[in-house]
Amino acid sequence: MKSIFPTDRRIKLGIWGLGRGLNFVQSAAALNIDVVAGCDVNEHMRENFRKQVPDAFVTADEDEFLAQDFDAVLIATYFRGHAAHTLKALAAGKHVMCEVTSFFTPAEGVAVVEAVEKSGKVYNLLENYPFSRENMYLRKLWQEGFFGDFMYAEYDYVHECRTLSYAYNVDNGLPVEPGWTVHNWRSMLNYHYYNTHSLGPVMNITGLRPVSVCAPPCTVTLDGYLEGGRSATAFPSLVRMSNGGVMRNLMGSTTNDYHSSGRIWGTKAGADKMGELWIRVGGCGGGITLPIKAEWPELSEFAESTGHGGGDFWELYYFAREILIGEPAPWNIYSAADVTLTGIMAARSSAQGGNVVEVPDFRKPEVREQYRHDDEHCWPKNVDAEHIFPDGHDCELTKHFTPTMAALFPMNQQSGGIHLYNMVMQGIRLYPQVADEAGRLRIIKAANRLLAALPSLAENCRMARKLADAYPESIAGRTLARVIREEDFNGMEDTAGTAAKVRKWLEGIK
Ligand SMILES: NC(=O)c1ccc[n+]([C@@H]2O[C@H](COP(=O)([O-])OP(=O)(O)OC[C@H]3O[C@@H](n4cnc5c(N)ncnc54)[C@H](O)[C@@H]3O)[C@@H](O)[C@H]2O)c1
Repeated sequence: MKSIFPTDRRIKLGIWGLGRGLNFVQSAAALNIDVVAGCDVNEHMRENFRKQVPDAFVTADEDEFLAQDFDAVLIATYFRGHAAHTLKALAAGKHVMCEVTSFFTPAEGVAVVEAVEKSGKVYNLLENYPFSRENMYLRKLWQEGFFGDFMYAEYDYVHECRTLSYAYNVDNGLPVEPGWTVHNWRSMLNYHYYNTHSLGPVMNITGLRPVSVCAPPCTVTLDGYLEGGRSATAFPSLVRMSNGGVMRNLMGSTTNDYHSSGRIWGTKAGADKMGELWIRVGGCGGGITLPIKAEWPELSEFAESTGHGGGDFWELYYFAREILIGEPAPWNIYSAADVTLTGIMAARSSAQGGNVVEVPDFRKPEVREQYRHDDEHCWPKNVDAEHIFPDGHDCELTKHFTPTMAALFPMNQQSGGIHLYNMVMQGIRLYPQVADEAGRLRIIKAANRLLAALPSLAENCRMARKLADAYPESIAGRTLARVIREEDFNGMEDTAGTAAKVRKWLEGIK
């Protein structure tokens, strides 16, 4: 592959955390980056890495990893470990690119900002959603002044990922092991903290920083998330930007997800991206709306073929460019702190019932001083991912917990589990009013998939009852009891009866 930069200098990269971390291997070579080392405590992840990068050094030991001869570290470890790992990587003399978010508490943020300043090394946050084709196109227009002053935006990153409380985000949902534990952080995620994919694009397009946030709590939750966890609902907040404009930031988990939709309005024009990108021109509410075929600013042939709609490519590109050519990347430590702190403060606002909370500016040493010892967080403190069953539990039974949950709420939601059952039952109800043939066909195909999936679904329902009955007072037991109460377990367990009903319906619509 030909090189993008006008230099032969290369960057030796180590990847720390080999789940998401592996996504970057594909783009590296053309960006003068050689992946030479990997580190993960999980043998399965190390094995996946060995397959993709057979010549690289790989270890479970982070000290041995950091002692290797490489220039930069990509940190994609657990959400709450990023600050500690950044400090360690900088201390080892490496440049750092860190997955979202930068840190977990304001005190950690102060430590990271000051360590980056002291180190003289490049630090980039790996926030990729601003670098979709549409968002990059909007940024270019925005910086030309096309949209005028920022007035209002709504951006969403709504991701119903129950399965990721019980499975790793690899191999189509590999159940967490041992089966009586749950995912280190996704089982307890307070989604206000995971705000970068929606606030990030607005910051990057407009060049503004967030100054305050308020977030009324939403307390209606979905079943199937770990009881006592936090991610089972919508997490809206209103963010005031430095020019006085406002954005509605929406994260969380709902029955109508939008991964990267948004609308952003200035004083001269407005854009909406709910699927297609539209721009309303004329600087008036009744202006004409134009469908837009967004273009990459440059390097489209590279960006097009990589993950997250090109976003993963641009993150690596900016990082390599800063190291090789010295041109600053968008997500330096200060903008990383701005976006990370907005999430932390939104969660605090929500805990206070929706008060307005200031987003501190960590560029200013005197502001940092106020947060140097602020190590509070709003994640559940009474839930331990490793202890969701009582002491002395029967491991032969409880080892089935995460495989059962991952099967009831699978990564591919159309393929089986409770989702597929519900899709078919609701689809049958709506069938007479479905407006086109393609929609009707989707219901018929789902019904046929359900017929094949019913026996294993029934088996998983029975295992869920067994686990819930054995440990009714535990977090795992209460999680299951709610699922059993709220979902149609009788229908899912009655394989013959449900299959007969679905077959009869299929016959009837022929
Ligand atoms: N930008 C995006 O689009 C995007 C997408 C997915 C994940 N992420 C971020 O990437 C990070 C990783 O997410 P993931 O999906 O890979 O899931 P994950 O959190 O399960 O993966 C983390 C990996 O790091 C390993 N690990 C944790 N601590 C370690 C340590 N001290 N030493 C060695 N290995 C360690 C774990 O074994 C695991 O394989 C998260 O922080 C998440 O926020 C970002």
